[in-house]
Amino acid sequence: MNLRKLEKGDCQLILNWMKDEREFYIITGGTLGTYPITADALYDQYVKQEDTLLTFIAEDPEHTPVGHFALRIKGNGNDRLCYVVVDKDKRGQGLGESMVKAACRYAFDERKAEKVTLAVFQINEPALNCYKKIGFDTDGPNSIFDFMGGKEACYEMALYRRPNETT
Ligand SMILES: CC(C)(COP(=O)(O)OP(=O)(O)OC[C@H]1O[C@@H](n2cnc3c(N)ncnc32)[C@H](O)[C@@H]1OP(=O)(O)O)[C@@H](O)C(=O)NCCC(=O)NCCS
Repeated sequence: MNLRKLEKGDCQLILNWMKDEREFYIITGGTLGTYPITADALYDQYVKQEDTLLTFIAEDPEHTPVGHFALRIKGNGNDRLCYVVVDKDKRGQGLGESMVKAACRYAFDERKAEKVTLAVFQINEPALNCYKKIGFDTDGPNSIFDFMGGKEACYEMALYRRPNETT
């Protein structure tokens, strides 16, 4: 899985990869504005946060973009994985697992992070299973977020750097 920096032209692709409004809020937790959102507005949201947010596109071996994520630089060795999404037409093929592993490798190897953290809605079984399979464990108190007019619980999860471990 190849990683590269997100470019403005990728934002429409990212929006196309999401199935619907529910998925937009599952992915963003409402932190990237409201649905529907244009590609330009999404890009503006990312630019606003560029001091603390590294945004990526994941490509398959043929260099076709297949997924997106970001790392929020929290300091103290904590890189926070967010905005994880795989092309809706290419899920269930191992791409999400490869992409999240590549994201963690980047955080641990390139950025020397001590841990990668994330928050995932408890109702999001595919993502929860994916993170658990990679080795993320619950870490810290759960939180409650606004979700489409209601409230939903989120697990706080973390993967800690282990010496000599290849992710
Ligand atoms: C979550 C997501 C990134 C997973 O990507 P993916 O490419 O479909 O996942 P993979 O094929 O790599 O599967 C890896 C593991 O995830 C879990 N998983 C994936 N799809 C699943 C599903 N539909 N139901 C239950 N578990 C699932 C499984 O544990 C799977 O391992 P297995 O195949 O050995 O059973 C993808 O479903 C997605 O983009 N979802 C919408 C956006 C989203 O929810 N983002 C996360 C926000 S926190």
